[in-house]
Order: sequence, then C-alpha cells, then structure tokens
Amino acid sequence: MNKSKILVTGGTGYIGSHTIVELQALGFEVIVIDSLKNSFAGVLNQVEKISGIKPTFYEFDLCDKSALDNFFYREPNIDAIIHFAALKAVGESVDNPLLYYKNNILSLINLLDAMIKFNLKNIVFSSSCTVYGQPDVLPVSEQSPMKKAESPYGQTKQMAEQILSDVVKSAGINVIALRYFNPIGAHDSSLIGEFPIGAPNNLVPMITQTAMGIREKLMVFGDDYNTKDGSCVRDYIHVVDIAKAHVIAIERLLKKNNKSPFEVFNLGTGNGFTVLETIKTFEKVSNTKLNYEITSRRNGDVEKVFADTNLANKELGWKAERDLENMLLTAWNWQIKLKDLKLN
Ligand code: UFG
Repeated sequence: MNKSKILVTGGTGYIGSHTIVELQALGFEVIVIDSLKNSFAGVLNQVEKISGIKPTFYEFDLCDKSALDNFFYREPNIDAIIHFAALKAVGESVDNPLLYYKNNILSLINLLDAMIKFNLKNIVFSSSCTVYGQPDVLPVSEQSPMKKAESPYGQTKQMAEQILSDVVKSAGINVIALRYFNPIGAHDSSLIGEFPIGAPNNLVPMITQTAMGIREKLMVFGDDYNTKDGSCVRDYIHVVDIAKAHVIAIERLLKKNNKSPFEVFNLGTGNGFTVLETIKTFEKVSNTKLNYEITSRRNGDVEKVFADTNLANKELGWKAERDLENMLLTAWNWQIKLKDLKLN
C-alpha cells in the first residue's frame, strides 16, 4: 500500500475531485485545500462514495499566507503537491483582471514560498493549452512558442509557468506542468463531474444543460472559421484521462524519474473536433435533439487547436483512452444525476 501524502489544492473542483479518486485508488493519502469559492465541500462526500475514503479537508484561500503557514505546521509530512486551485473563467478575467492576477498568481507565490520554507520539493501544476494562443503549426507540441495570451486568465497561466521555471533553478524544486486541452466528461459512477456555478462558459455543460431543459438554446459561436464545417476545432479530453496523467506525474516526481526540474506535457487526445461535430455526437449518444442556433464569433476564441501528445505518450507512458462518445455520454449521465444531488 502506497502511503505517500499528496496535497491537492482546489480538490473540490472538477479536475481536482477526479484526480483524488485516481490517487486514492493507488493508495495515496490525500489532503485537500479549497476556498470553496467555486465549489462545494459536499464533493468530498461524493469522492468517499466512490473510494470509501474521505480526504482530510482544510477550507481556506491560498492567498491567505498565514493560513497556509499554519496548514503546513499542522501537516508537516506532505510528499508532493498538485496545484489546481485557480480561477478559470476567461470572460470574467477580462472584466476583472486584478481578481485573476491576485488570485492565480499570489496563491502560487504563497505556495512556492511555503514549499521553500517547509522544504517541499515536488509540485504538479495545472496549466492549459491557452498558453499557446492560436498556434501556427498543428498539432501543437510543447516546443511551440507561447503567443500573446488572449485573456488575463491565459496570461496568468503563462506567468505561472514562467514563475515556476525560474523558481526551480534557485530552490531545488521539481515541477511538472500539465497543459490541458479541453477537459470534459465525468466519472463513470456519475457521482462527480463538472459543476458550474451560474451560467456555464464552456461548451459541454452548455450542451447538457440545454438538453436537460435548464437552458433554452445553445448558441454556436461562429460557423465562418476556416475549418471543415466552419465551427471551431478543439481537442476534447476525458477528465478521467487527465486525472490519471496527474497520478503518473506525481509518481514520476516521487521516484525522481523526471529528466529535468521543470517539465511540461500536453494532455490531449491529439484529435480535433468541431463544435458542430460535438453537438452531433452528443445528440447520438444521448438520443436527444439539441436546440441550437449559429450566432456570431465569441471574442478571444482561437479557430483550431489540438495537441501533439507524443511527449506525454513517450515520457509519461500515458495516452488518453476515452473517445468523444464516452466523454459526452458520461457528461450527460452526470447532468441527469445532478438534479437529485445535494452538494452543499
Ligand atoms: N462554444 C459555443 N457555445 C457555447 C460555448 C462554447 O459555441 O455556449 C464554442 C466555443 O466558441 C469554442 C468551443 O465551443 O469554439 C469550446 O469552447 P469552451 O468554452 O468549452 O472551451 P475553450 O476552448 O474556449 O476554453 C478552454 C478552457 C479554458 C482554456 C482554453 C484554452 O475552458 O480554460 O480552453 O484554449 F483557457
């Protein structure tokens, strides 16, 4: 039984909760910090229903430096950190950039300060394909240059990677930054999944809420892009595949198998699907007809992006296993279960 202790920040969130389940399945002990600004503590009860184990939970904001110090005095034996906690709504970051810089950057700086103070060496960081902007060459590899970020949110992910890559040199910390493409889907149990508070920004919760009758209509943002049907192309990836990659990254750090102190990997399937293809696939797997309308482009959307996953395949021995049908079916099953769920 593996008893390494992993701190998961943002552990009540979408990707965090799925990652906890995968960590627990391999015998890791999980401790969660979350501010609960965008999530519910009840998610950990759902995790317990899946794994039989409720992780230890601390509720505070990582921007609160003294709370973070107190935490590490109480939990001195942490082996590695997975840092998910961050704000992630692109539009909100345009309206309120300081909120994003403060929340996403200050929390990371506080965490790194604490890692140095308490002599912690290993961290896996939640990054995003947003750091590439619209790449010139597709599929996009880790070597592709970072373009100017499309939003303050994207900027915080670029800055965070920069901060991490600088800090490893001076502090002897090991970092694996995982650049997610578009995580969707839910756990097979339908006990955990994506839980947007208020109107969702992202395509798949918008699709499932529309199919459920919670929203009247899905707006498709543009059909005049240079793609096969004119709608944008994304590399959708199942959240459980993403979660499994985190466990592999943690094991790589703990076993000191990393090849350099700052490593970056794309997490995608390598396949691009248009918005309209995604809608059609959803209609097929859910056996529903979606009410949707083509409308104008959304500001800041890139036309096309999908991953070159060779590095993660080769170095991590990881490959996304689930296809778009499974992603959309599990998202739909979760949406159906959600109406009976009490998380708060
Ligand atoms: N879309 C619609 N209608 C909607 C919502 C989305 O047509 O109601 C379209 C978008 O225009 C886009 C595609 O669906 O073409 C995917 O949009 P999402 O909002 O689901 O995802 P994004 O690709 O915009 O954003 C995701 C993450 C961000 C991250 C970004 C990096 O949510 O956190 O990828 O590209 F920054």
